[in-house]
Amino acid sequence: MLKRTLGTDLHVSAIGLGCMGMSEFYGPRDDEVSLRVLHEAAELGIDFFDTSDMYGPHHNEELIGTFLKSSKAPVKVATKFGIVRAPGDYRRSLDNRPDYARAACEGSLRRLGVEQIDLYYVHRVAAEQPIEETMEGLAALIREGKIAQIGLCEVSAETLRRAHAVHPVSAVQTEYSLWTREPETEILPTCRALSVGFVPYSPLGRGFLTGRFQDGAFEEGDFRASLPRFQKTALQANRGIADLIAMMAARKGITPAQLALAWLLAQGDDIVPIPGTKRSSNLHDNVAAAEVTLSEDEMAEIETGLLARPVTGERYTAEGMKGVNV
Ligand SMILES: NC(=O)c1ccc[n+]([C@@H]2O[C@H](COP(=O)([O-])OP(=O)(O)OC[C@H]3O[C@@H](n4cnc5c(N)ncnc54)[C@H](OP(=O)(O)O)[C@@H]3O)[C@@H](O)[C@H]2O)c1
Repeated sequence: MLKRTLGTDLHVSAIGLGCMGMSEFYGPRDDEVSLRVLHEAAELGIDFFDTSDMYGPHHNEELIGTFLKSSKAPVKVATKFGIVRAPGDYRRSLDNRPDYARAACEGSLRRLGVEQIDLYYVHRVAAEQPIEETMEGLAALIREGKIAQIGLCEVSAETLRRAHAVHPVSAVQTEYSLWTREPETEILPTCRALSVGFVPYSPLGRGFLTGRFQDGAFEEGDFRASLPRFQKTALQANRGIADLIAMMAARKGITPAQLALAWLLAQGDDIVPIPGTKRSSNLHDNVAAAEVTLSEDEMAEIETGLLARPVTGERYTAEGMKGVNV
């Protein structure tokens, strides 16, 4: 698998693995199947697994801990802290205080069964807590060897600059895909100016860009059912985006997921998407996207096609949107 570098020295496979759905948010879980997918991902050369202490909580880190115990594969784990929630309840509060970061980090180390977290993200910035204090707390965890690198999720350009002035940030993780282009305006250029890597989450539009979930019928408890973009009228309005991807992918002899991932990879060498899957077949599909090259004409056709199909619906509820670009 092709390798990429986040920041100055976090070397990872060009495509990572989003592990969130293996625990919750996207329907029921099956640990046996998920463990097989984790092993298979490592065999296929994916060495960058993405989790958070709030996925499950804390089932997802425990699952990865179980995988790590039974594998010698050199997998780097990125986890996150800062969102506080209870199992089965999507309501949350934020905590970025250094003391909380330290306690959360120790919990994650224990559940993962490792001595050091490879990349430790602030999952959401708490606006009322100075990012400088959070970064000083994280820098202390680096000095003690508990974490190797620092990342920030869904931050504004200004917060990134302030944070980076205290300690280098290796990666920003924000939603970015064919139907979520906002990062291109400000945060991606700022990452580039500071040599910070960029990790697009939900690179398949939570599955919508693959042609699935077009009717908004989700299993009980699926988080997507609450998102504005997945309401019936928005889905109808957005269908043209999925259709365009499906048409271009079919013509090229690849899958829609591969087109969506290849488009992200083509945005720059500093980009490492982390598609999430619970299935072996989709894992193979996504890994093969690293081999797909889109021509200039195809990139231009995508650009023109998307201009004619503006997305309908916010990506989070009004409450969720308060946590982004902070
Ligand atoms: N920092 C944050 O705030 C944040 C927020 C959300 C997510 N994340 C991270 O980003 C990762 C990825 O994002 P995501 O899981 O939300 O969305 P995603 O990767 O855009 O999409 C995942 C969905 O697409 C389906 N899928 C995956 N590969 C497919 C393929 N080749 N063909 C058809 N369907 C496919 C999956 O279903 P199957 O399981 O059936 O394959 C799942 O329903 C997460 O796992 C998590 O680690 C971070």
